[in-house]
Amino acid sequence: MDSRSSSEEEETNHLRPWRKRTLQIISTEKWRKTSDVTPLPQVAGHGSWDKSQAILTNKDGCILKPIQAPPRGVRELEFYQEVNSVTASPEEAQFLPFIPKFFGSCNKRNGKFMMIENLTGAMKKPCIMDIKVGEKTYGPDASEKKKASANASYMGTKKPFGFSVLGMGVYQGKDKEEFVVKSKDYGKALNKDSINDFVKEYFDKENATSNTKLLMWDMIKKLENIKELFSQQKRFHIFGSSILFVYDAEALMSDELSEDDAKNANVVKMIDFAHVHPANGEIDENYYFGLINLINIFKEFFTSI
Ligand SMILES: Nc1ncnc2c1ncn2[C@@H]1O[C@H](COP(=O)(O)OP(=O)(O)O)[C@@H](O)[C@H]1O
Ligand SMILES: [Mg+2]
Repeated sequence: MDSRSSSEEEETNHLRPWRKRTLQIISTEKWRKTSDVTPLPQVAGHGSWDKSQAILTNKDGCILKPIQAPPRGVRELEFYQEVNSVTASPEEAQFLPFIPKFFGSCNKRNGKFMMIENLTGAMKKPCIMDIKVGEKTYGPDASEKKKASANASYMGTKKPFGFSVLGMGVYQGKDKEEFVVKSKDYGKALNKDSINDFVKEYFDKENATSNTKLLMWDMIKKLENIKELFSQQKRFHIFGSSILFVYDAEALMSDELSEDDAKNANVVKMIDFAHVHPANGEIDENYYFGLINLINIFKEFFTSI
């Protein structure tokens, strides 16, 4: 018998049937013990500097992200619920391939969490990079103070290129044994002259091989699919959201990757939806601008290796 209290019941009524089934499998047994969850290695975000807001993970490929104080947390939860809903319009549902799978929300350890797919999956040596997209990273409801502080940060990349490099954790070296971490300060120091550095770092240029090229090309294709979405969607304007890049450095060590191997060894998805607003029938130019520049920088680097 399920011994969870009603406060620990997941809220799933609105979800598509297959999501409900997946959730049942995950929730009835696996989420029950709090001891099963551990902090997720984060390269950015609230949990990277405040332990009480840490994202948790369990063994089954899911993470628990704390639902932040209103309106941020509620907005993110509502976005996931809306695009996953049985009543989602085609324009809303088209976001699904580009975001982590969503399994509902739950109460644990005195807090409310969203249950989402762990994008690092079963990777042995996940190399993660978090890039916040947009020159403007706050919504129309932001206070003047918030606007000023947001505009003043990451100026070297945000203004000219429309994105910010929030952080990365990468396995580098010939044997991919050296774990290199770059945090906020790294991204804040980037500018027009040094802009290509973060791609070199993330793909470990010094030790790049034909496998690296193949992997990178697949990640560019995934970015272009997101660009395709933003070239036409007029449903949401998304501020302060990131693209999370993940690849498995272990895969780069194999003799020769096939295109399929390369495809399966990486993930490029949108995360962090605390500032999603209605598009009122207009293209999200702010997001699109950052995305185009990001793709161009990736492509330039691709031709240089
Ligand atoms: N679905 C996910 N799978 C794997 N790692 C994730 C996932 N979501 C977030 N992370 C990790 O947590 C960090 C912060 O996530 P984010 O959703 O941006 O939180 P916050 O709202 O605190 O900024 C990311 O930089 C990444 O390292
Ligand atoms: Mg974030």
